[in-house]
Amino acid sequence: MQRLYGRLIKPVLLTWATMGFMGAQLPVQASIQSLQFFNGDIEPWIRMQSQRSISLLIKNIHPEGSAPGAVVASPSRVNPDYWFHWTRDAALVMQIFVSGYANSKTPEQKNYTTSLLRNYLNFSHANQLTPNPSGGVGEPKFNVDGSAFTGPWGRPQNDGPALRALTFLHWAATLIAEGRINFVREYLYDGQSPSRTVIKADLDYVASRWNEPDFDLWEEVKGRHFHTRMVQRRALLEGARLAELLGDTQTAEWYRLNALTLSRELLRHWNPERRILIANLDVMAGHAVKTSGLDTSVILGVLQGEVGDPFFAPTSDQVVSTAFSLQRAFYNLYSVNRLNDYPGIGIGRYPEDRYDGYQTNGSGNPWFLTTLAFAQYYFRLANLWEKAPGILVSEWNYPLLQYVAEDASFVVGTKIEKGCEDFNKILTGLRKAGDSFLLRVRMHMDQQNGFMSEQFNRDSGFMQGAEHLTWSYASFLTAVWERAKVPTRSLLQRPNTFRK
Ligand code: NOJ
Ligand code: NOJ
Repeated sequence: MQRLYGRLIKPVLLTWATMGFMGAQLPVQASIQSLQFFNGDIEPWIRMQSQRSISLLIKNIHPEGSAPGAVVASPSRVNPDYWFHWTRDAALVMQIFVSGYANSKTPEQKNYTTSLLRNYLNFSHANQLTPNPSGGVGEPKFNVDGSAFTGPWGRPQNDGPALRALTFLHWAATLIAEGRINFVREYLYDGQSPSRTVIKADLDYVASRWNEPDFDLWEEVKGRHFHTRMVQRRALLEGARLAELLGDTQTAEWYRLNALTLSRELLRHWNPERRILIANLDVMAGHAVKTSGLDTSVILGVLQGEVGDPFFAPTSDQVVSTAFSLQRAFYNLYSVNRLNDYPGIGIGRYPEDRYDGYQTNGSGNPWFLTTLAFAQYYFRLANLWEKAPGILVSEWNYPLLQYVAEDASFVVGTKIEKGCEDFNKILTGLRKAGDSFLLRVRMHMDQQNGFMSEQFNRDSGFMQGAEHLTWSYASFLTAVWERAKVPTRSLLQRPNTFRK
């Protein structure tokens, strides 16, 4: 039934034309899609698309013509040219294999993920030592043979070293649990200064440079960024734990101290009038205009930067309020979201985006990875609230709670106790909302083969931008693993528990 829609959404286009929606824009506070839409079982499709995503993702690791360990952002070499190893994309993609390593069930799986991770480690180590225009480990991308990319670019991008450190820190957590601490000392964290190992070289850089302005993850704005700072904070806190375990207590203290100051700076990103977290502060260069103040990078920062404490936690009022404002804005902005009552909302980078996947004077579109981040966000909310003693309904989280549990009876100020009817309605509604974003993505991908590019058109729904974007495939897996409650092993958690 669902296959009818395919990539081709002719029925959608017809409705659209006849309803005269062309060019019209609803006011931002306008309605939002209802969740009362589907009952089908999407699990068989999730299983199939997971397999496909893994195979397609693997094709972009060390493809012909690249060095071992290189992860190309996309096989596309012209219009756009994404044939590079981006530090950020690679770290998020390789986290998939860190989880694969931790959860591998056969020796073959373990050997395979080990070899991928070792190649990535060698390539990353070489990147760190390669002289580049940033003059440090914040260089955003390298040529696929590992040589420096010397063209003009928005640099440095300091989320890269933090994300790379996190991926290796999570691998280290499993290696330590397996008793392989010597490997960790030798290749990942040597406790030397200057360091010859990847994690420590990245963390030393983050600890000393986090307050310097840099370019954001979208590579457009120079300033200080919520996403970058959230992942830096997490990297420093997890890094401090590793340093401590390995007896490097002074460094551990230094990382913690910086995480603390950085946290204080992060508070500045909350805008109480707009009730949203602002992505970019102290903007001093770049070309993105963000009059709405909204940016999905905030949600990515929360998901990638969560350490299990209450600080801008996914369930916090500030984050919930930001997420719902984003979702409503994109619902109203992209006509494809309002056609034919198809479930889910396509989410873009930020409403004023003009990068259409080829050039920057077009109009921005929903992206696969941001839409999938919303799926993951809803699953994460469900998983976290499920373990909470109750949910306190506030002015800030009310719109989202009401959205997922339309027929519930709570009002602002209610404490919804664990296990009561409204509590269960919310949990079910959150998971249903998460699934709606998965279904949205399914509608716009190539359903025959499971291909995903970077974006899908805001009006027609057709895919555009870099083909086979590696990060799109990784985001699918990250989202559905959250749905299935697959844990990410980290040094801040007790092993074998889900986000304790
Ligand atoms: C490519 C970047 O990766 C993208 O984020 C940006 O929007 C465009 N260039 C325009 O700068
Ligand atoms: C553009 C995106 O904005 C950026 O985040 C990404 O790293 C590059 N494309 C490569 O995928």
